[in-house]
Amino acid sequence: MVTNILVTGATGNVGREVVRLLSDLDYPVTAAVRNPIESQKSFGSNVRCVLFDFTNPETFTDAFAGINKLF
Ligand SMILES: NC(=O)c1ccc[n+]([C@@H]2O[C@H](COP(=O)([O-])OP(=O)(O)OC[C@H]3O[C@@H](n4cnc5c(N)ncnc54)[C@H](OP(=O)(O)O)[C@@H]3O)[C@@H](O)[C@H]2O)c1
Repeated sequence: MVTNILVTGATGNVGREVVRLLSDLDYPVTAAVRNPIESQKSFGSNVRCVLFDFTNPETFTDAFAGINKLF
């Protein structure tokens, strides 16, 4: 099974580095972000960005689609 990792806090100090390292290892990595359009420009095409807000449960289902690991 393909490991698809969702990284929360992906634009922050910790999460950005986690995304970069996983992406460099060619892991399918999804960045959980509050602004997917801006973040997509910043992360580039190797990283999928999805809308995720801890304070908005309506964003959870789509963000976790196809995900089997969470950071
Ligand atoms: N940095 C360290 O050395 C360190 C050490 C130990 C523990 N920690 C813990 O690790 C966590 C991350 O640290 P950090 O230094 O990377 O923090 P940070 O640079 O302040 O980044 C915070 C991240 O959380 C996101 N975020 C904030 N509110 C959110 C919400 N409602 N929904 C979704 N995302 C939200 C921010 O996204 P936006 O860009 O949208 O604001 C940003 O990506 C914190 O809990 C911190 O206490 C950090």
